[in-house]
Amino acid sequence: MRRVVTIDGPAGAGKSTVARRLADRLGWRFLDTGAMYRAVTLAALRSGIDLTDESSLEGLVESIRVSLPPGEVWLDGQDISDLIRTVEVTEESRHIADSPSVRRRLMEWQRAVANDQDVVSEGRDQGTLVFPDAFVKFYLTASAEERARRRLADYRARGQGEGISLDCVLRDIRQRDARDEARAIAPMRPADDAIQVDSTGMGIEEVVARMAEDVRRARRDADPEAVAAAEVSR
Ligand code: DC
Repeated sequence: MRRVVTIDGPAGAGKSTVARRLADRLGWRFLDTGAMYRAVTLAALRSGIDLTDESSLEGLVESIRVSLPPGEVWLDGQDISDLIRTVEVTEESRHIADSPSVRRRLMEWQRAVANDQDVVSEGRDQGTLVFPDAFVKFYLTASAEERARRRLADYRARGQGEGISLDCVLRDIRQRDARDEARAIAPMRPADDAIQVDSTGMGIEEVVARMAEDVRRARRDADPEAVAAAEVSR
């Protein structure tokens, strides 16, 4: 396994944007594990199965082909990058996230990706379960109010969210937090050795710079000579 930086945390904390930019800075692969759960959700909705039926989900996850080329998500040969960001998929994904077979299958896939390349992986369980030996672990949060504002702005930017109030998004965010934290399997929580970052009131670049500095420090601690040589040759 190569080096892994994990970024876990609640919905709307800015994990995807931060993880993508941090991965760009480091020259590592960005792994959006939420997109994997969303892709399975879309496939399940399309197939019409009962989203709470474990054996149907197990069959489904074995039968679909999901791939994540840079910046995109594909399902069975179709680009579904935008289709997985709808309010419906966001809402229904909780059933998929509760499924042990889906989690097992996606965990295998996530580990396989990190087998041959360095990755920045974002999700809920990356530092706790999928990559317990990750190089650096972050837990990124922000206040529920700020996360709700960001989520609504995000919907609006995509031309959705017409008629949805901030209060409604806030309620949804709080419910999702409670559900993700209370989930029997892979509950969302910071790993014991995670660096906790509260991004309330911080800009994206500020968060990324802070994390990049933490990663740099970890690299220096792991291999002081290599980092010093790289800095001199820059
Ligand atoms: O981060 P997101 O909103 O794209 O996540 C989509 C869904 O997948 C959400 O219900 C949480 C779940 N999820 C998870 O359970 N574990 C992960 N590692 C990533 C996402």
